[in-house]
Amino acid sequence: MEKANLDWSNLPFGYMKTDFHLEYYYKDGKWSEAKVVEKDTIELSMSATSLHYGQEAFEGLKAYEHKDGSVSLFRPEENARRLQKSAEKLIMVAPPEELFLEAVEKIVQLNKRFVPPYGTGAALYIRPLLIGISGMLGVQPSNEYLFLVFASPVGPYFKEGLKPLKFKIEEKMKRAAPGGTGDVKVGGNYAASLRVSRAARAEGFKEVIYTDAETNQYLDESGPANFFAISKDGNSYITPKSETILPSITNKSLMYLAEHDLELTVENRPVKVDEIYDFSEAGCCGTAAVITPIESLSFRDDTIVYTKDGKVGPVSQRLYDRLTGMQVGDVEDKFGWNRKVKLD
Ligand SMILES: Cc1ncc(COP(=O)(O)O)c(C=O)c1O
Repeated sequence: MEKANLDWSNLPFGYMKTDFHLEYYYKDGKWSEAKVVEKDTIELSMSATSLHYGQEAFEGLKAYEHKDGSVSLFRPEENARRLQKSAEKLIMVAPPEELFLEAVEKIVQLNKRFVPPYGTGAALYIRPLLIGISGMLGVQPSNEYLFLVFASPVGPYFKEGLKPLKFKIEEKMKRAAPGGTGDVKVGGNYAASLRVSRAARAEGFKEVIYTDAETNQYLDESGPANFFAISKDGNSYITPKSETILPSITNKSLMYLAEHDLELTVENRPVKVDEIYDFSEAGCCGTAAVITPIESLSFRDDTIVYTKDGKVGPVSQRLYDRLTGMQVGDVEDKFGWNRKVKLD
């Protein structure tokens, strides 16, 4: 099959209609078979719990074309499990892992002409979405759910790629609080972050790094990505641990690569804001953000610069090369993270 005619190397991180999406319905205690749908709209009760009470959770993962033309998903089992955690927190019914895996594989097969060619730096982004669809007025969980999966070819979230960007530490506005939903991937967290991102952009920053909601003394994460840093001596990969951070699959992979491939010490622990003065490199990581180096971090009246001549630091670069090399099949998949999609 011919590839779609797109400017693959200059794709934004944005939605583009592809050929098909998938719908699975949960009703009377069981999931339906996959419904393959061409149009990209859905019909929904105007009183659906997802619309009024935010009963919705989602995932984000990518499929990558390798040099030999094969296509792999990166650790999709992790996304299946995280969706289950998100669903549990909002008292929703999540698709079982096998159904999730079937769906994300099928969506690639159905839209394979939209999988960006090897070497373009782009990927097919897959968005699984779970929403409560029962029409209700009282604040209560839905009885019925729609699990929908669509795909869109994308470039990196921060279009500058590996170019370091300016961030600020945000102490006043919050995306999540202890005991809340910051550790799961639900729409409400992102709704809460929109105004924060907009305010930061108006001040000339790309994004913020939040501090913890309780004490403001610890670093949490960014709006769309986890935060990591490299110690002054270059020997430690440091990333915050907090109950209001979404456990990033990219960060989990980087921690593993840092320890097992780069022989760094991994420090996944509460990270004090004051420690920003002790880092040699800093960055954000996520499926969409990949590794986005932080050029500078502004905190109150101070700005700490982590890069020289606007270039990514050496440890971040090595991590980036390993991770992205593995995802596109150029670096040996030692840990079995790639799941090949059957294509005919
Ligand atoms: C709030 C938040 N943190 C972190 C991440 C990165 O997670 P992952 O690496 O699993 O994509 C994302 C993006 O998915 C996110 O939205």
